[in-house]
Order: sequence, then C-alpha cells, then structure tokens
Amino acid sequence: MHIAILSVSLNVHSTRRILEEAQHAGHYVELIDHTKCSVKLGEGRPQIYFEEENVTNEFDAIIPRIGAKVTRHGAAIVKQFEMNNVFSTARSLGITRARNKVRTLQIMARKGIPIPETVFSINPDNIEEQIKLLGGPPVIIKLQEGTHGMGVILAETRKSAKSIIDTFYKMDTSILLQRYIAEANGEDIRIIVVGNKVVASMKRTSDLDDFRSNVHRGADTTAIKPTAKEQFIALNATKYLGLGVAGVDLMRSKKGPVLIEVNASPGLQGIEAATGVNVAKHIVQFVEKNGYRRRK
Ligand SMILES: Nc1ncnc2c1ncn2[C@@H]1O[C@H](COP(=O)(O)OP(=O)(O)O)[C@@H](O)[C@H]1O
Ligand SMILES: [Mg+2]
Repeated sequence: MHIAILSVSLNVHSTRRILEEAQHAGHYVELIDHTKCSVKLGEGRPQIYFEEENVTNEFDAIIPRIGAKVTRHGAAIVKQFEMNNVFSTARSLGITRARNKVRTLQIMARKGIPIPETVFSINPDNIEEQIKLLGGPPVIIKLQEGTHGMGVILAETRKSAKSIIDTFYKMDTSILLQRYIAEANGEDIRIIVVGNKVVASMKRTSDLDDFRSNVHRGADTTAIKPTAKEQFIALNATKYLGLGVAGVDLMRSKKGPVLIEVNASPGLQGIEAATGVNVAKHIVQFVEKNGYRRRK
C-alpha cells in the first residue's frame, strides 16, 4: 500500500515507530508535513499539494499525527483526503472533537459515558457559584485545549480558585472547572484503542510532588488489564468521537471509572515500553484492513 503519515517531523518517536512498522510490512510510506500542504479548490476536483508535489491520488491511506498547535489546518487537510475517499485512521471531525476537552465531554455526557462533574462558563461575575456547583474547593481548573498536563491546575482553596479563574476569564482563555478526583491518588488509566479493539493499557502514577499523571510530567507506568466497564467506555468514546485510533484517559473515581479526555494522536513510547505491545504494528494492520477497500 501507499501510506502517508501526516506529521510535522520524523524526530517524533511515535511517527518514527509507525513509519518503521509500515516499511517493515512492505508498504511505501511517505512522511507528509501537513503544515507544508496546500489545497486547491475551484475548477475540477480539489487537489492536495505537498510542497510542489501533487499528492491527491498518491495514497491508499493516511495516518494523521496532528500536533496540538496545528490542529485546525491539519484537520482541514485530513478532511480533503477523506473527501477524496482516502482512508484515514482518524476522521477530521474526530480530531477536532478530541482536541477540545469541553467538546469531548459534551459528546460523552450526551452518550451516557461517565465523566467528572464539570462546569464551563465565561462569566466572571459568579465564580463563587461555579465553584459551589462542584461542591467547593479543591477544584481542577483546566485549559480546554491543553496537552501533556500543561494547563491543568489544582486550586486547593476558594481564594486561589477564584483568582485563577478570574485571570483566565479576563485573558479570554477557554477553561473548564472540574471536581478534583482526590481518591484516584494521582493515578489514571490510559487505554489504547485501535479499530474497535483495546490493544494496550497502562496505569500512570504521578510523581510524588505532582497530581498530574502525564508521562511528560514524569509519571511511572505499569501495564494493567482494564475492567470490562473501562474497556466499554474506551471503545465507545473512540467510536462516538469518530476515531479509529485513540488514547483514552480514565480516572478511577469513587463512583467508578470516569473519562477525562481522548487523544487522537496518542504517544507510543510510554505505552509500548510499559506493556511490550507493538502498538505501531496494530495501527499498520488496521490500515491494511481498511485502506484498499475505500479507494476501489
Ligand atoms: N478532575 C481531575 N481530578 C484529579 N486529577 C485530574 C483531573 N483531571 C486531570 N487530572 C490529572 O491531570 C492529568 C492531565 O489532565 P488531562 O485532562 O488529561 O490534560 P492533558 O491533556 O494536559 O493531559 C491527568 O492525567 C490526571 O492525572
Ligand atoms: Mg491527558
């Protein structure tokens, strides 16, 4: 097959892993930096260019690995491939939905997937009430579009929560407020879904002096087998967002597992090291199953 990986750089470990596995399986793989792609609309069928090369009909499948900073353009490029009937491991819509935590949680709430109590607002006049809606401090304050744990703040007192929230509202930064799930003890669960299957799962335990369990924040990882309910949540969340590949983050709250967020381009290094599962190979096999069918 001819496969394009949409990513800004080969220096990203996960990109390299997928490239390696796809080449190993005998596919022709090109790395397409979507920030260097242009789309020509107008007369005739839309054409997709990568720098000077017309790549409109080059690929049987694309694997988007769209970074946080370039989601909008990346999703538009993915959309263009989709409209040309090229299989994508992530639908454009899924990428934009997963990018925004409020949007993700709204969809989950509508579909009956358990999530933490969450408040979003832009009103600086009733911050007290917003905190009260969550049962008072401590509360989590989160950038709607943060990643790697950056932009997730634990406000332990009403005073600090108020001043932080007020600052974000005044700066026109989109945030959400969430109940602090203290009982999870700084642990969360990352489940990797590939094509309707759970292929790998790990528990992440935060560094002693942090509450965030991101690998980028120094969390420890161990392989686990998620419960049936956790697997159900991960599989359905992935499907509801419109993703073929996803990293679903859950926390174990006193009311049971709750979905925190979904990553459309989950990192592979941490999960492959913790579990020994060849996730990149699973992704390539998923592409093999679906790629040709669509183009015919
Ligand atoms: N409501 C919460 N209660 C307790 N800890 C949380 C809560 N939300 C997030 N965290 C912690 O912060 C980490 C990062 O939050 P997350 O929403 O996944 O943002 P990011 O996109 O930056 O990873 C989580 O992995 C978890 O350890
Ligand atoms: Mg996360």
